Amino acid sequence: MANHVTKAVIPAAGLGTRFLPATKAMPKEMLPVVDKPAIQYVVEEAVAAGLHDVLMVTGRNKNALENHFDRNAELEDTLEKKGDTDRLQKVNYSTSLADLHYVRQGDPKGLGHAVLRAKMHVGREPFAVLLGDDIIDSRDDLLQHMLDVQHRYNATVVALMDVPRESIHLYGAAAIEETGDDDVVRITGLVEKPDADKAPSNYAIIGRYVLRPEVFDVLERTEPGRGGEIQLTDALQSMAQAPDWTGGVYGVVFRGRRYDTGDRLDYIKAIVQLAVDREDLGPELRPWLKDFADGLHDEPREILDEMPTDAADAPEDVNR
Ligand code: G1P
Repeated sequence: MANHVTKAVIPAAGLGTRFLPATKAMPKEMLPVVDKPAIQYVVEEAVAAGLHDVLMVTGRNKNALENHFDRNAELEDTLEKKGDTDRLQKVNYSTSLADLHYVRQGDPKGLGHAVLRAKMHVGREPFAVLLGDDIIDSRDDLLQHMLDVQHRYNATVVALMDVPRESIHLYGAAAIEETGDDDVVRITGLVEKPDADKAPSNYAIIGRYVLRPEVFDVLERTEPGRGGEIQLTDALQSMAQAPDWTGGVYGVVFRGRRYDTGDRLDYIKAIVQLAVDREDLGPELRPWLKDFADGLHDEPREILDEMPTDAADAPEDVNR
């Protein structure tokens, strides 16, 4: 069955402060996960679920994103002359992957505000939102399943994951009711980043949504919430409370592999987890990793400084 949903929206306007200084001049979405920028995994996921029309909501300093998905004639030419067809294919792949559109967020007023910027492009159809920090393993099905559930329930659908209680404050948390469908729950309430003792459950929203267009009407009336930002979670909470005209909100419980590339430690883990299963890198990486792990001690024997200890001690001639 052809998808009733054709459009994906990818908010990509964040400043990437958790990765400074790497993200001082480069968007965080361009950080490589093995050998592809994180954002490419997300676009590939949308396309694999049949969503070829992709709108990125960007901001200042995000030109590298557009360039990545555009042609690079000089590079193509060089690779072609060298006869490096393998790399040429990789370079061309990201160009022809999807029908990409861009809109700028302007003021960074939160995720809800970023999604609202998609209103003109999306129109009055259901659409998907994929957050760039979360990578869902391409071997596990999530988005296609969410699209099916959206169609079946004619509702708004979010992806949920059962997370440890001590992590729930990092996410939108959902109060849920069983539906009788194995991995589908009805959402009765949502709270953005609650304290652990106030969270309605351990079910966290992970960065995948299939939204009914009524979300735009709700977002337009949503006041700034946590952190002074317009929160998508707050709009979804309103929709969950008004199922008569919004269709309500359902959750698909995901039990597959998800990598959080928005956090430095998880980003490192993601690279290792994805690389060990790669045909080209895994065979050498796996035994090396085992060896490395065997030699690890609980404490480092010598601390590696994050930054040079004293800039004042640096030699005068620092411009080299
Ligand atoms: C956003 C959402 C949050 C959700 C999370 C998933 O938060 O606001 O509800 O649980 O993405 O990654 P962020 O991580 O952008 O602060």
